Amino acid sequence: MGAAEAATGWRNPLRDKRDKRMPRIAGPCSVVIFGVTGDLARKKLMPAIYDLANRGLLPPTFALVGFARRDWADEDFSQVVRDAVKQHARTPFRQEVWDRLSEGIRFVQGTFDDEKAFEQLAETLNKLDAERGTGGNHAFYLSIPPKAFPQVLEQLSSTGLAKKAEGYWSRVVIEKPFGQDLKSAEELNAIVNNVFPESSVFRIDHYLGKETVQNILALRFANELFEPVWNSHYVDSVQITMAEDIGLGGRGGYYDGVGAARDVIQNHLLQLLALTAMEEPVSFSPDELQAEKIKVLSASTLAEPLDQTTSRGQYTAGWQGGERVVGLLEEEGFSQTSTTETFAAITVDVDTRRWAGVPFYLRTGKRLGRRVTEIALIFKRAPHLPFDATMTEELGQNALVIRVQPDEGITLRFGSKVPGNQMEVRDVSMDFSYGSAFAEESPEAYERLILDVLLGEPSLFPVNEEVELSWKILDPALDYWGSHGKPDPYESGGWGPDSAFEMLRRTGREWRRP
Ligand code: BG6
Repeated sequence: MGAAEAATGWRNPLRDKRDKRMPRIAGPCSVVIFGVTGDLARKKLMPAIYDLANRGLLPPTFALVGFARRDWADEDFSQVVRDAVKQHARTPFRQEVWDRLSEGIRFVQGTFDDEKAFEQLAETLNKLDAERGTGGNHAFYLSIPPKAFPQVLEQLSSTGLAKKAEGYWSRVVIEKPFGQDLKSAEELNAIVNNVFPESSVFRIDHYLGKETVQNILALRFANELFEPVWNSHYVDSVQITMAEDIGLGGRGGYYDGVGAARDVIQNHLLQLLALTAMEEPVSFSPDELQAEKIKVLSASTLAEPLDQTTSRGQYTAGWQGGERVVGLLEEEGFSQTSTTETFAAITVDVDTRRWAGVPFYLRTGKRLGRRVTEIALIFKRAPHLPFDATMTEELGQNALVIRVQPDEGITLRFGSKVPGNQMEVRDVSMDFSYGSAFAEESPEAYERLILDVLLGEPSLFPVNEEVELSWKILDPALDYWGSHGKPDPYESGGWGPDSAFEMLRRTGREWRRP
C-alpha cells in the first residue's frame, strides 16, 4: 500500500485486478490551473472538471486552485467557475455536486514573477492536503502563453512544488503550442525536463482525447476486415481534413504569427496521421503505443517540391451561414499587413514498406464551407471494369472515411448497381454513426484527458520525441513559406485557395468535398 493510500484510506485502483469496464476514479489530489481567466479554462477545463465530478470520477476531497493576477477571493473565483460550468458543462447542473466541488475551490492571487505568490500557493496546497486529505498529489495545469512556461516552471521548482513527496505525485500539464519550430521545442523540452521528469509531463493534444480518434485503433486492430487492405497495395492516397467554419476575430493575440500549420497540423493532424499509418503496437501500454507512433513519424517527410506539394491561404470577406463575414485583415486583433496563414495543406510521404508511394494529404483552415474533421482512405480503382464505359461514369474510388466530427462515425463508399434493367454502377455509402449505434453520449476530450492526468495514465499524451519529430516534418514548409511571399487569398465560406486545388489536380486527384 502506498503512502497516499495509508494516509487517506483511498485504494489505488491500479492495484486491483479488475473488470476494465468499471470506471477508474481519481485518488485524492489538487489541480492548480494557471491561466484561469483565459478562454480555454472557462470553456473547457472548468466545465470538464465539473463533468468529471458529476460522473462520480473525482474523489469527494478533490481541490481546484486558481492562480491569476485578479484581485479575487476564493468566493469570487468559485463564482467564476460556477458561471463557466453553468454555461459550458456537458452534463446537467446538480446543486449537490456543485456544493461538494466548491468546498475545495481556492484562489491564489499573483503574477508569474512573484515569488511570494508561489509561496502562498505552496501554503494553500499544504493546507488543503492537511484539511481535505488531498494527499500531497498535485497537478499543475499550464493554460498560459508558452513564453510564460519557463518562469512558472522555475517558480514551481524553487518552491519545491515540482518535487513529489515520497509516495505522492507532482505532474505538469502543458497546453500547445509546444514551441514554434524544432529548435524552440527542443529548448522548451529541456526546460520542462529540467524541472519535471518526462514521466510527470502531460502534453495536451485534445484530439487524442476524442472518442472517434481512439476508435481508429479499435477499427484497425480489433477487426480482420480492414487490415489486409490498409496499405499501398490497395490505398491510393489518404486525405486528412480539419475544416472549421469559424473565423479568428478576437484570437489575434494567440494566432497572429502562429498560423494554421503550427496551430493544428503540427499537433492534431500529424497525430491523426500517426494513428492511421502506424504498425500494430505489441500492446496498448503507453510505451508500446508511443514507440509505434515515434517509428512512423520518424519515417515521415514532406513531399517535394514544396511549391507544388503545399499550399497556404488567408481568408478574405465572404458569406458564411447566410451572414456576411470579414476577411482576416479586418478581424479585431490582427495587423492589417498580417501574412499569417489561416489555411494550410501539405503532402507527407511515409517511407515505410506499408505506405511507400501513398501520399498523405493534410489540410486545415478557418472560415471554410463547414466544420468537419475526417480521415479518408481513398482506394485504387479496380484494375479492370467489365462494364460498358457509360455504365460506370458515376463510379468514383472506394473510400473509407473516419468521421472524427461532427456526426461522428465511419462511412464506406463503394459502387452499387442502380436499380433497373441496365448494369449501371454508382457510388453509395454505408454508414456507422455513433449517435444511433450507442445510447451513451461521448465524454468531452478534456474530461478524458484531465482524468488520465489524475490517474497518471500517459497513453493519450504525446511525449517530447513525438513533438520534436512533428516539428521536424513541418519545419521545411514553414521555412519555405517564410521566404516565399504571402499566403494565397480565399473567400470565406469556400474550401481554400486555388493553390490547394491545384496541388492535388496536378497529381490527377481531387480533394473530397466533405
Ligand atoms: C485548437 C486550435 O487546438 O483546436 C483551434 O488551437 C481550433 O484553433 C481547435 O479551433 C479546434 O478544436 P475542435 O475540438 O473544436 O476541433
